[in-house]
Amino acid sequence: MQPPHTQRWDPAGYERNARFVSDLGTPVLELLAPRPGERILDLGCGDGALTERIAASGARATGVDASPEFIAAARARGLDAAVMDGRHLTFENAFDAVFSNAALHWMRDPDAVLAGVYRALVPGGRFVGEMGGHGNVAAIVVAVSAVLARRGLDAMQHSPWYFPTAQEYAAKLEAAGFGVDSIALHPRTTPLPTDMAGWLATFADSFFAPLTPQERALARDEVLALLRPVLCDSAGRWTADYVRLRFVGHRL
Ligand code: BEZ
Repeated sequence: MQPPHTQRWDPAGYERNARFVSDLGTPVLELLAPRPGERILDLGCGDGALTERIAASGARATGVDASPEFIAAARARGLDAAVMDGRHLTFENAFDAVFSNAALHWMRDPDAVLAGVYRALVPGGRFVGEMGGHGNVAAIVVAVSAVLARRGLDAMQHSPWYFPTAQEYAAKLEAAGFGVDSIALHPRTTPLPTDMAGWLATFADSFFAPLTPQERALARDEVLALLRPVLCDSAGRWTADYVRLRFVGHRL
C-alpha cells in the first residue's frame, strides 16, 4: 500500500484490524494462477502475506511497498521485498506478471503507476489486480464527509483513495498499452474482525489529520454514531460496504 500524506501503516494494528484484506485475496490469486519459475511482482505487497503464497507456488516473487514498516514485515517472512513508490517503479522487462491486491486505490496517480507496471512487464506479461472500486465504502465516506463538513472541512481534499469505475480503469489500462481481458466491480459486504473504530484507525486516519487530537476523538465518535444504524447489527457486529474492482490485463 502506498501511504500518501499522513497515512501510516502499523503492521501490528494491520494484523488486528485488517488481516481479512489478504485473507480475502484468494480469488485474485486464483486469477493470477502463478506458475513455478515465473517472475512475479507484488505491487503494494503490504506485510507480504500474499507474496508468500505466490512464492509458495514456486514462482519467484518480489514485493514492493511504499511503507518501510511493511517491507520490514515482509522481509521477516524471508521474502525478496523492497521499499518503492508505486508511481516510480524502477523495473524494466523484468516480470512475467504483476499482481496487486488492495493497494492500487492508495496510489493517487494511476497513470504513473500503470506506466511503471507496463515497463516492469515483459511483452505479453499479465497484470492481475483487485482494488477498491467506485462506490467502495460509500457509507463510510458519506459519514466522514458529513462530520468534517460540520467543521468546515472538505473530506475529499483529505481523501487518500482512488476508487474508479470499471469503464474508467479499463480506459486507463488501454491508454497505458494493456489489453483488458476482464474487469468488473464486485460488491462485497465485509465483516470487520474488530469494529469500525479499529477500521477507521487503520484505514481512514488521514481524513482526520487537520483536527487536533481532542477534535479527532469527537469527530470519530460522530462518524461511529452515523454509521451504527447501517453498518452495525443488533449483536454489535460491524461490516464495511466494500466494492472491489477486479481485473486481468496483459501488456500488448
Ligand atoms: C483497503 O486498503 O483494503 C481499503 C482501503 C480503503 C477503503 C476500503 C478498503
